[in-house]
Amino acid sequence: MRFAGVIAAALIGLGTSVAAAEPIKIKFSHVVADSTPKGQGALMFKAEVEKRLAGKVVVEVYPNSSLFGDAKEMEALALGDVQMIAPSLSKFDRYTKKLQVFDLPFLFDDIAAIDRFQKSKVGRELLDAVKAKGYKGLAYWHNGMKQLSANKPLRVPADAKGVKFRIQPSDVLLAQFQALGANPQKMAFAEVYQALQTGTVDGQENTWSNIYSQKFFEVQKYITESNHGVIDYMIVTNTKFWEGLPADIRTELEKIMAEVTDHVNKTAGEINERDKQRIVAAKTSEIITLGKEQQAQWRKAMEPVYKKFEPGIGADLIKAALASNSTN
Ligand code: LMR
Repeated sequence: MRFAGVIAAALIGLGTSVAAAEPIKIKFSHVVADSTPKGQGALMFKAEVEKRLAGKVVVEVYPNSSLFGDAKEMEALALGDVQMIAPSLSKFDRYTKKLQVFDLPFLFDDIAAIDRFQKSKVGRELLDAVKAKGYKGLAYWHNGMKQLSANKPLRVPADAKGVKFRIQPSDVLLAQFQALGANPQKMAFAEVYQALQTGTVDGQENTWSNIYSQKFFEVQKYITESNHGVIDYMIVTNTKFWEGLPADIRTELEKIMAEVTDHVNKTAGEINERDKQRIVAAKTSEIITLGKEQQAQWRKAMEPVYKKFEPGIGADLIKAALASNSTN
């Protein structure tokens, strides 16, 4: 009996140690296609982690809102149902006013300026903007500049009057379209294609890679190359989960995240250019390019947004972001 008891105890012990050796699972949920900068980044992160931390960490990537969509992913991260998400910076509106700086229209001249801002001291500090809510910002990933699409041509700001636009859940974006006299409507990304197809909305704003991979170009007659704003991401994890990881594993994950970030941010521009060319080649939408004068008109029409949001964002932060347009 005693012997059997010892064996049983040993087996239980063995069972516990087997359970303890189970790899840590990171569920990485996002809302876009695998072919986009974020989709590619998530897959690269998985591949690198599973190579360098084999047997210790596994990463499950859930693209295209297949696990959680926009509306639920922040809560899911707080509850521990996912360990990593990468919402666009516009989707933190309910959690912090600071990140609204990224939504201000025509603030950044191009992605290079955004890159400089994100790498600056002020930009890096913004990774902590949602810290108090239990989230840890790990990195910024680029997607690209936003273009306007609609089923009518948008050449001058007055063309947008009365047009129903789908927007991300951001009050800055709401104000941006209201300044044009348009009718903005907050809507989850996964619902946009159908809303455009059925006429629930007439237009939307997004990057070339999202317009291509979600097939928006098939249901939008016109795309205006406006470059009026940006869609970039913050990779966020749950602080408790992250700080509970064994230190050596966390350090390696941080190293991998830095390498993947570098790669994503270097290749996002090429992916968007590739997808733009695919849309041009498909010939389903007319591409409208804006001259300098027309672009200035859009900029002016959207300008009231700055005054409205400056108190929440902070004048200094806006100034620092604007300064990133200059390379000096
Ligand atoms: C959108 O909702 O339009 C984008 O934020 C989707 C994304 O994650 O790029």
